[in-house]
Amino acid sequence: MSASLATVSYLGAIILFILSLGGLSNPETARRGNLYGIAGMTIAVLATVFGPRVTLAGIPWIVGAMLVGASIGLLAAKKVQMTQMPELVALMHSLVGLAACLVGFASYVDSSVAFSGAEKVIHEIEIYVGIYIGAVTFSGSIVAFGKLSGKIGGKPMLLPGRHAINLVGALVVIYYGYAFLQAPSVEAGMPALIVMTAIGLLFGIHMVMAIGGADMPVVVSMLNSYSGWAAAATGFMLSNDLLIVVGALVGSSGAILSYIMCRAMNRNFISVIAGGFGTGDGAKAGAGGQAPQGEVTAISAVETAELLREAKNVVIVPGYGMAVAQAQHTVYEITKLLREKGVNVRFGIHPVAGRMPGHMNVLLAEAKVPYDIVLEMDEINDDFPDTDVSMVIGANDIVNPSAEDDPASPIAGMPVLQVWKAKTSIVMKRSMASGYAGVDNPLFYKDNNRMLFGDAKKMLDEVLAALKG
Ligand code: TAP
Repeated sequence: MSASLATVSYLGAIILFILSLGGLSNPETARRGNLYGIAGMTIAVLATVFGPRVTLAGIPWIVGAMLVGASIGLLAAKKVQMTQMPELVALMHSLVGLAACLVGFASYVDSSVAFSGAEKVIHEIEIYVGIYIGAVTFSGSIVAFGKLSGKIGGKPMLLPGRHAINLVGALVVIYYGYAFLQAPSVEAGMPALIVMTAIGLLFGIHMVMAIGGADMPVVVSMLNSYSGWAAAATGFMLSNDLLIVVGALVGSSGAILSYIMCRAMNRNFISVIAGGFGTGDGAKAGAGGQAPQGEVTAISAVETAELLREAKNVVIVPGYGMAVAQAQHTVYEITKLLREKGVNVRFGIHPVAGRMPGHMNVLLAEAKVPYDIVLEMDEINDDFPDTDVSMVIGANDIVNPSAEDDPASPIAGMPVLQVWKAKTSIVMKRSMASGYAGVDNPLFYKDNNRMLFGDAKKMLDEVLAALKG
């Protein structure tokens, strides 16, 4: 393939990636967005493999590597549960970081391309910065994977003087960067590169270890952004325009997503990075804030069905527990039945419900719930006073009134779905345990709230049977 054909193909791929991102912003166009992405990636891979920079002798190696990579990818896609997605994504980010490090070292020792003067300085800066971002992304993502999969505790590790440690690390990296650029030969520059890589790896570990479980979603999306910048840096090192543009797309969309998530959790981005928030184990309730008072009122599946049958307006709020119980299909069966009986059933989706952005939308789309009854938090929050029954399925933090009422609560200020404003709210969960942020929930004790204890799938099956009966 000629160089100009490869460039045109790269341009086509870039346009498809932009269309793909546009498509993914809405559930209705997400499938099309995915198709654009697949087409773009296929063109990108073909244009690279058959492009001017790969010799014939290299093709068997590339095909071999692709076969291994594709088999691992296929296996992971088949085996990994939806709820394990964030940890898989974290693991994948680590590979992008590792690739940036390896490409950086390879381009430094590669003697086939010789630069001189300003070009040499620019190339070496690209290598130094690229390896640093890659190292932070690699080790940070491995720790994020460990925390999300429960292999490492979610509690933030706060070393004494940690900000000073980070500052000293940054100064050493800058000092060695200067030494690296001054080095007269590859051998002389290598020690500086290795010291910087080691500091980058330690910084990645330190940064993510200091972040509490409740802030992990923001960290994963931040590492997503880093992995994009690492890919862009790799693109600069390899003079590959496609990698630069795609890296920048991933880097900036990850940064925007981190910002949106921070806003949804009412957290300041800087304080997330500074670390220390949340216990992460989600087991013990009552971290900070006032302990809720009163008694909870339990309800049976049959009574729940009666309330639903008599209601005119119902709002369903799904959360992480619906994903765990895989209850989305039964939820839709119930929705269909109620709608046939003339009940207005809608869904209220919190931006950080579940464990990854869009988690609930994906599950509801899988169960074929029509998009027009799935509403964002801001679109439905004002409607709760006119709602007869709000049904919370395996959600907790996202419906916690203390976020609004209790300034001492660790989640104070986080916008929440105001389910308690409905005539009756029903919370479906297995016990009184807290949610992800480890905070007690006063909703359970409100007079108009009922608790339907049990596994969400099992309880909903019973509600469905009672509705049919
Ligand atoms: P959570 O606050 O984590 O609450 C989920 C509740 O589901 C738990 O209290 C649990 O109570 C219940 N549950 C678990 N398994 C269940 C089952 N099989 N059947 C019925 N209930 C079950 O979830 P949420 O309300 O969706 O809020 C999300 C939280 O996760 C937020 O704090 C958010 O910041 C955080 N987070 C979000 C993301 C993104 S991006 N969405 C990523 C990571 C973390 P029982 O144990 O009593 O059943």
